[in-house]
Amino acid sequence: MKLSSILLFSILVLAACNRQLSVTSSSEPFRPLYHFTPDSGWMNDPNGLVYYDGEYHLFYQYYPDSTVWGPMHWGHAVSTDMVHWNHLPIALYPDSLGYIFSGSAVMDLQNTSGLGDSLNPAMVAIYAYHNQKLADEGRNDFQYQGLAYSTDKGRTWTKYPGNPVVRNPGIRDFRDPKVTWYEPSKVWIMTLAAADRVQFYSSPDLLHWKFESEFGQAVGAHGGVWECPDLFELPVAGKEAVKKWVLLVSINPGAPNGGSGTQYFIGNFDGHRFTWEESNVKWVDYGMDNYAGVTWSNTGDRRIFLGWMSNWAYAQKVPTHPWRSAMTIPRELSLVLNKDEYLLKSAPVREFEKADSLVIENRQLQASHIRVKAGGDKPEQIILTVSNKKGQKLIAGFDSGTGELWLDRRTAGISDFDTLFASNVHSVFTGTGSGLFTLDLYIDRCSAELFFNGGVYVITDLIFPRESLDSVNVSSSTGNADGVEMRIWSVKGNH
Ligand code: FRU
Repeated sequence: MKLSSILLFSILVLAACNRQLSVTSSSEPFRPLYHFTPDSGWMNDPNGLVYYDGEYHLFYQYYPDSTVWGPMHWGHAVSTDMVHWNHLPIALYPDSLGYIFSGSAVMDLQNTSGLGDSLNPAMVAIYAYHNQKLADEGRNDFQYQGLAYSTDKGRTWTKYPGNPVVRNPGIRDFRDPKVTWYEPSKVWIMTLAAADRVQFYSSPDLLHWKFESEFGQAVGAHGGVWECPDLFELPVAGKEAVKKWVLLVSINPGAPNGGSGTQYFIGNFDGHRFTWEESNVKWVDYGMDNYAGVTWSNTGDRRIFLGWMSNWAYAQKVPTHPWRSAMTIPRELSLVLNKDEYLLKSAPVREFEKADSLVIENRQLQASHIRVKAGGDKPEQIILTVSNKKGQKLIAGFDSGTGELWLDRRTAGISDFDTLFASNVHSVFTGTGSGLFTLDLYIDRCSAELFFNGGVYVITDLIFPRESLDSVNVSSSTGNADGVEMRIWSVKGNH
């Protein structure tokens, strides 16, 4: 099919809102404008995601003294809308039991732990300790689970004197506890990564834990170690009476594009055991830069996910300074039935709609949201190209004939820091079929997040263009511009 290129100049006016973005800082050309980043230093996984009293808490794996990984702390930030973030002091420092690795946080609203009271319920963080000294001695039991609590909305923390609360049975990789309340039997459930599987524990009070079962040894992807699990129940969109349990498991290495990625399993959890009801491995994201993602607790009916927007294959080499790593856009999860399989859909949280405003100047494209709607009776290939004057290009595409969705960052900028970074186009087969489809591409200086049909499939990739990508072009294989609609907004966040 011949591809005739049509430039679309008609940016639809959506809101008469003209907000000025801050000017690109030449010293920090890759600092995102609406994604969370630490002020300086090294960041990896999101930790302790919990909502309380109007605030979304984001704790994160943090090493303040360098831009590469080191002794882990929990950094801390809060937001009322998940778009604008306020940095708070470091919440948890390494101590004599070890570095503070990944974990979760819950609100103990019924004071099951006795660590708070009814007026000031405890915010409880459950995290992995990593004891480097024991690791250096060649022992296997150097990771175990600890707990800390706060009765002032996460501002100050006390480590629980009875730590560790889960001891290591002799498993080298034994970490990343994700705790959730299981209402049917009124217990806390901890999902823990244990080498090549996850383990489930239960507790009446967050302090005493009983082993229940394990899952995954012989199923799913196993090209690397399992990390950062999460377990939650979701209704199926359009059939709210049908609910399924979703188990997220990050894996490093062993993801489809190399390095790290997050797989998910759909099935049932009965308070003791998880049963997988499918047979093929599915991924939360088909790009290279969404890892260790987990969801907020205490958000009612909403299930909101945040990932670390990087990949262990090159995270410590990316050309940013004096900070390294950003988080993804927070994403609302839902379960959809696509033909005859369940898919985990992840859409940018609706709070982002308020941050959108019409693009007035091209330079605002550095932090933008581009939406393309197309599709008709005939198969069609849409190519969305975002480029700069240096000829660097990011290309997003969808072919409704083959069902392939892709994002190509190979020529989008600096890539020589690692051979894997620009080695492949990242793609996924969505199932074929004509009809309307939507591509939402979020660009934020060093990142591109492509959402297909509102998030049924997602591709997240870092990019490092040498100057801002400020020109947008859409082409359709049908040669018919009338059937293609494009809108561009700038997105305003912290910077
Ligand atoms: C995942 C991970 C976790 C660990 C943490 C250490 O990226 O390796 O398993 O707890 O990072 O920083």
